[in-house]
Parts: sequence; C-alpha cells; structure tokens
Amino acid sequence: MDVSKLSDNYFVRSLNRSDIGMILSLCRKNDLYYQYCPPVFSEHSILHDMEALPPRKSLSDKHYVGFFKDGALIAVMDLIEAYPDEKTAFIGFFMTDTAIQNKGVGSALIEEVCSFLRGEGFTSVRLGWVKGNPQSEHFWHKCGFTETGALYETNAYTVIVAQRAL
Ligand SMILES: CC(C)(COP(=O)(O)OP(=O)(O)OC[C@H]1O[C@@H](n2cnc3c(N)ncnc32)[C@H](O)[C@@H]1OP(=O)(O)O)[C@@H](O)C(=O)NCCC(=O)NCCS
Repeated sequence: MDVSKLSDNYFVRSLNRSDIGMILSLCRKNDLYYQYCPPVFSEHSILHDMEALPPRKSLSDKHYVGFFKDGALIAVMDLIEAYPDEKTAFIGFFMTDTAIQNKGVGSALIEEVCSFLRGEGFTSVRLGWVKGNPQSEHFWHKCGFTETGALYETNAYTVIVAQRAL
C-alpha cells in the first residue's frame, strides 16, 4: 500500500522513532481521550504502538502514519490491512491535533482514507472506541460507523467495535 495516497490534501508518510517528539506533543493536548483510555501515553507507549500488531498480522500489514500540513503533524493513524479478514481494513488509532479539531478536518480525512481503501479493494473498515467516550462515539457515528454488537474488555475499559461498509 502506498500510504502517500491516503490523502490528496495532506502530505502522508510513515512515522518512526525520530517522530516521537511531535507525536507526544499531539497526544499531550488530547486529555479527554486519555481519561477514557488509560494509561497515559509516553515515549515507551508510542514506540510500542508503532509496532503493535493484531493476531496473525505482520509489520508489512501495518501503517503507522502521520498527516502533515505545511510541515506540521495534524493527525496520526494506525492502519492495518486485511484485518480481521482479507476485505476489511482496521483503524487501530486516529487522533488529530486539538488546534484543528471541530472544523471537519478529521471526518474529511476519514472520507479520503475510506475512498482510498475502497480503491484498494477493501469492502469495509473496522475500528473500536472506548465505551463512554462521547467525543470518539460522536465522531465515528458522524463518519458512518455503526456498532457491530461486539465488545471487548480490557483491564481498564470496554471497547465498542464498529464498522463501515465501503
Ligand atoms: C475524534 C477526533 C479524531 C475528531 O477530529 P476532528 O478533526 O475534530 O473531527 P471533525 O471536526 O470532523 O468532527 C468532530 C465531531 O466531534 C464532535 N465532538 C467534539 N468534542 C466532542 C465531545 N466532547 N462530545 C461529543 N462530541 C464531540 C464535534 O462536535 C464534531 O461533530 P459535529 O460536526 O457533528 O458537530 C479528535 O477529536 C481526536 O483526535 N480525539 C482524540 C482521539 C480520539 O478520540 N480518536 C478516536 C478514537 S480512536
């Protein structure tokens, strides 16, 4: 997958260890998210997220990417190809910079990503949000995702699984 094609409006590239400083800055301002999804982020947790994989997936299926406007990181996405099945793409994480939130940027980006994934042959996108987080729930509903009915429990919170057909 050529991640530079995920957006026509933003420069997109894979993020790596040298980008952790700017990822931390973006996360730091999103305190509502971490109230629902503890523990709070750290350099270590971001490094872990950069390499974390669902069962039976390899790093070649994973794209931990940044979206840039005028050289500034405005959004981060963790995208897994073909999970949990060949025709489904999985968004493991998506976060925008608080400076550009509530202006339609996040939902427009998700539209672009969905359109690209449709072109790549995927027929659905799956993701999850932490039960009770009003911002995440409202956002993913706005982007056309609906609950599958599946939930999964972690020690700290419950994740609601949702999906959108492409
Ligand atoms: C969710 C997120 C990606 C949205 O990005 P964005 O650029 O603000 O997206 P948009 O402007 O397209 O849409 C935001 C919507 O959320 C709504 N919203 C914002 N804060 C909210 C809150 N506390 N409660 C309910 N809805 C909220 C806005 O009103 C808007 O909806 P509307 O257009 O119907 O009014 C961003 O807020 C974020 O990064 N949050 C932290 C991480 C997160 O929750 N990611 C998703 C789960 S993985």
